[in-house]
Amino acid sequence: MLETQRDPAHRHNESGRSRAAVYASRRRLRAAVALSGVLLLAAGLTGCAGGGTGVAPTASPSAAVPASEGGDAGAKAQELFTANKCISCHGVDLAGRVGPSTNLQKIGATQTKEQIAEQIRNGGGGMPAYKSKLSEDEVNQLADWLSSKK
Ligand code: HEC
Repeated sequence: MLETQRDPAHRHNESGRSRAAVYASRRRLRAAVALSGVLLLAAGLTGCAGGGTGVAPTASPSAAVPASEGGDAGAKAQELFTANKCISCHGVDLAGRVGPSTNLQKIGATQTKEQIAEQIRNGGGGMPAYKSKLSEDEVNQLADWLSSKK
């Protein structure tokens, strides 16, 4: 009598637990399916966006300017030195390409900044004058940089 009363209750509890377990596993399954769906959707969107926009340009124009040991002013002067063909007679390394007088590697030891600026402005001794090609600022930048070569 007691057993028959307890049994259905017991079975009810059992089946209740198992239903809960089934629901729980179904919820997990649905969650997993939903999650993978979201991931697939995200992957699909990313793929489309990548294909649509192509490769974005990453190189910036300033990256092409080489850094130099002289800092910003030195880099600017070196640019002027290259752009104005000073290198064609004095060389990229300042060693001089048309005789010993064109070696500027230790020019700061024998000439002042003002003497160097004068040479750049007026030229002479085979060197062209630059006062019509360079601004006073640019002459000073070059003279400043060259006078630091000692
Ligand atoms: C066509 C060749 C030529 C070019 C281009 C040239 N130079 Fe010269 N430079 C010379 C010669 C040659 C001398 C030597 C002059 C002398 O002995 O009187 C000289 C001398 C100098 C001197 C003085 C050196 C010294 O010991 O007295 C400086 C500084 C100088 N150049 C800087 C420059 C700069 C800066 C530029 C570019 C803006 C430049 N040169 C472009 C040929 C050139």
